[in-house]
Amino acid sequence: MPIIAKRPNLLWLSIITLAASVTAALQAAPPEPGARIKSVDDLNSSGGARIDPATAPGRPLFEQNCAMCHLGGVAKAPSPQFLGMLAPDAIVASLSSGVMRTQAAMLSPAQRIEVAEYLTKTPYASYQRPAPPKQCAGPAAAFDLTDVPGAIGWGRDNRRFVPANVAGLGKGDLPRLKLRWSFAYPASSHARSQPTVAWGTLFVGSQDGTVYAFDPKSGCTKWSTRLSAEIRTGIVADPVTKRLYFGDLLGKAHALDALTGKELWAERMSDHADATITGTPTLGGDLLYVPVSSLEVVQAGNPNYACCTFRGSVVALDPATGREVWRAYTAGVPTPQGKTSDGAPILGPSGAPVWNSPTYDAANGRVYFGSGENYSTPADDNSDTVFAVDAKTGARIWHTQLTAQDAWNVGCMLGLGSCPTENGPDYDIAASALLVPIGNAQDMLVVGQKSGQVWGLDPKTGKVAWQTRIGHGGTQGGVHFGMAAEGLRIFAPINDMADTGDARVYDPATRGAGLHAIDAATGKETWFARAADRCAGLKFCDPGISAAVTAVPGVVFAGHLDGMFRAYDSQTGKVLWQNDTTKPVPSIDGRTAKGGSMSGSGPAVWKGMVFVNSGYGMYSHMAGNALLAYDIAPKP
Ligand code: HEC
Repeated sequence: MPIIAKRPNLLWLSIITLAASVTAALQAAPPEPGARIKSVDDLNSSGGARIDPATAPGRPLFEQNCAMCHLGGVAKAPSPQFLGMLAPDAIVASLSSGVMRTQAAMLSPAQRIEVAEYLTKTPYASYQRPAPPKQCAGPAAAFDLTDVPGAIGWGRDNRRFVPANVAGLGKGDLPRLKLRWSFAYPASSHARSQPTVAWGTLFVGSQDGTVYAFDPKSGCTKWSTRLSAEIRTGIVADPVTKRLYFGDLLGKAHALDALTGKELWAERMSDHADATITGTPTLGGDLLYVPVSSLEVVQAGNPNYACCTFRGSVVALDPATGREVWRAYTAGVPTPQGKTSDGAPILGPSGAPVWNSPTYDAANGRVYFGSGENYSTPADDNSDTVFAVDAKTGARIWHTQLTAQDAWNVGCMLGLGSCPTENGPDYDIAASALLVPIGNAQDMLVVGQKSGQVWGLDPKTGKVAWQTRIGHGGTQGGVHFGMAAEGLRIFAPINDMADTGDARVYDPATRGAGLHAIDAATGKETWFARAADRCAGLKFCDPGISAAVTAVPGVVFAGHLDGMFRAYDSQTGKVLWQNDTTKPVPSIDGRTAKGGSMSGSGPAVWKGMVFVNSGYGMYSHMAGNALLAYDIAPKP
């Protein structure tokens, strides 16, 4: 079997940060499309100065002092692969003053740095974190307690619709929509956390683990709190307790005090060494529902790895304490299934990670979520599946599989014996399900899939009411991160990038890349706005839409993989406004912000302003570090 020529364009890859991306952040480039991938390390390589892990002085230090726990010996100890994704200074901080201070007490400060260099493969001296962001003074530092966050956006209402009274802008205002300020996330090559506005404050997480509270008007910082690991989820603002909830790359859920940034609790959501959180936790009723995914799919790229033991789940927490109330697993319990052709044990079924923000159904006391592929043979009936569970107990009510027999891991990309016999197609349900009222006291559960299909399910029974194919699909979409809805109209972004074979060719005739409008009751497509291909051979550029989209009355905002941020007429699909986010702009603190591909999170809209991230320097997309704030009001 030839070594795969497939580009490393898989959703699972979107959970790996380029291991050394913190250095040379914006120059960081994923491997060339079609470059021969020989090991998992090749996928993570970001260029720039690198430490050779084989000879690094930190290696024996890690092996003697850390490996016994971090190579699977102790529950909840993240795998070295994950530790390597932390910023080098975050590792040193964890060893000096954080949760690992006891375990690293025998190491000198210089040795802690050597361990961090070994894990991140990054020379410590090359990692330069700029001065803290510009602090607010006077009225800009205050919180507006009358601005109580409504049930809008991921974690509250996955329809991602912002009503007129909050959005404060419509079609007629777009000609006045201009960049007001921007911020360059320090030492970052991607910006993925969904921004949220509450109490007159813009909250967002970042690659180096900092959560920011910005003044939305001026971009100064009311507080910033540095945690250890990247934040890829949205920030959920609890209107009653004024807590912020989110998850991090190491699989920890966190709660901060929104007014001070003080950490209230943090809990790891899984015992598994490779657990991570990408989907935004959902606040519903008295509980917080946290979706758990993992990076174990990558471990199977090691021919000796016994793949796999991770099972996707949703964990319901007490939002006051982070204490677990129940856990609903997706995949069945893994048991030995023989050996791979390389001689490694196979454990299965496994995987079916949950990437999306769960959907809370208050009226029926249920939670809905979708899963990804199994990691090992045998594929079971829980992969690429939509689940309905009881909101109070987690008991499964129904589950509907959208693609059967989907078992896949990195071994398939590397042409290894660890590739399950099913060999993909890796058609996760990566985007959140939308619960849409369709009249006569009925709802439709609308689900987008990486296969390029959108499905309408009866939320009572899980029965498929309709399905519509709007893209040819692929490992990064089809529908990748998230749809939006305005009433009955569903806005489904399609990525359909050129992700098969060596050729980076976008063929508009056969691909559905762009924005589609679908009727929630029938699945009929109302319009399709095909993405213009302005990449013209530009490296790591694709015209399609992978990021979640956001709707306001009359307008849909969508960030494209080519860095174009567009506003579409929600009635016709006509592009009404656009801005090229890849152009360098001054950051609020005097540095330069520069966007790239837009993926993961989508825009937040609040009082005539629009906030969006740009930059996705992973897996053949364009790097960037920009948070951009647009405003319909003229600059003061
Ligand atoms: C006795 C077992 C054990 C040893 C020894 C150990 N660790 Fe850990 N480590 C853990 C566990 C468990 C966690 C997860 C803790 C949590 O999430 O609160 C962890 C977490 C971490 C984290 C993430 C910390 C964060 O802030 O989230 C880093 C970095 C880390 N360890 C590095 C190391 C290094 C480097 C060494 C060796 C010097 C080491 N550990 C030794 C068990 C261990």
